[in-house]
Amino acid sequence: MDLETAIRTRRSIRKFTTAPVIDETIRELLDVARWAPSWANTQCWSVHVLGGAALERLRAAYRDAVEHKAERRFDVPPHRPDWPAPMRARTQRLLAARAAATEVAPVTPPPFPADLFAAPRMVLFAVDERLQAEYACFDAGLLVQSFCLAAHARGLGTCIMAMAVAYADVLRELVPQARGQRFVVGVAVGVPDEQAPVNGFPRERAGLDEIATFTTA
Ligand SMILES: Cc1cc2nc3c(=O)[nH]c(=O)nc-3n(C[C@H](O)[C@H](O)[C@H](O)COP(=O)(O)O)c2cc1C
Repeated sequence: MDLETAIRTRRSIRKFTTAPVIDETIRELLDVARWAPSWANTQCWSVHVLGGAALERLRAAYRDAVEHKAERRFDVPPHRPDWPAPMRARTQRLLAARAAATEVAPVTPPPFPADLFAAPRMVLFAVDERLQAEYACFDAGLLVQSFCLAAHARGLGTCIMAMAVAYADVLRELVPQARGQRFVVGVAVGVPDEQAPVNGFPRERAGLDEIATFTTA
């Protein structure tokens, strides 16, 4: 798959087949993605891969957190609810398109996906907490997109999930190696269920004139 096709056709996958994904495959994807650029080559990121019983423990802990209405604690502040109108509208259209395809009435905000879309692997991306969060997260984003494109090029599906790190304290208990790090996102990885409507609804992007200006004189 050429790069442009990969960029244009990658989409978030929220239903996976039961086919396993082995650690060696994730290693290969990360081996590609680690060539992403970063601020002064700091490479301030760490990656924690969960699967098998460890991932089931995370799901159980998240179900428990939801059941007990535990407060969500992100390491990186999530957006405040007062989004600018154009952005709110784009999200509403996304939720409406998803609801129409899956024939499930849209709920705002969507229910917390404690099952993490039942993906066979969850890849957590974190950054060193001693660095300024903004550019560290920017760097992590470059790593994450490279990872997702590499996965897509090999026929794997991904979904970047802020919700996967919504209970950062719960996560740090299960992943003690992440001490001193901020969780940025988790990425669900698996083989896409190509028949699932949730993986096939039409996506939209703002037109170029909405997002770009060109000044030459
Ligand atoms: C930082 C970030 C956080 C996201 N968090 C979630 C999430 O928690 N749950 C989810 O279903 N999708 C999540 N997404 C996926 C976006 O909804 C998705 O990228 C967007 O709707 C565009 O759709 P596409 O990826 O299919 O092109 C996230 C994406 C990004 C970049």
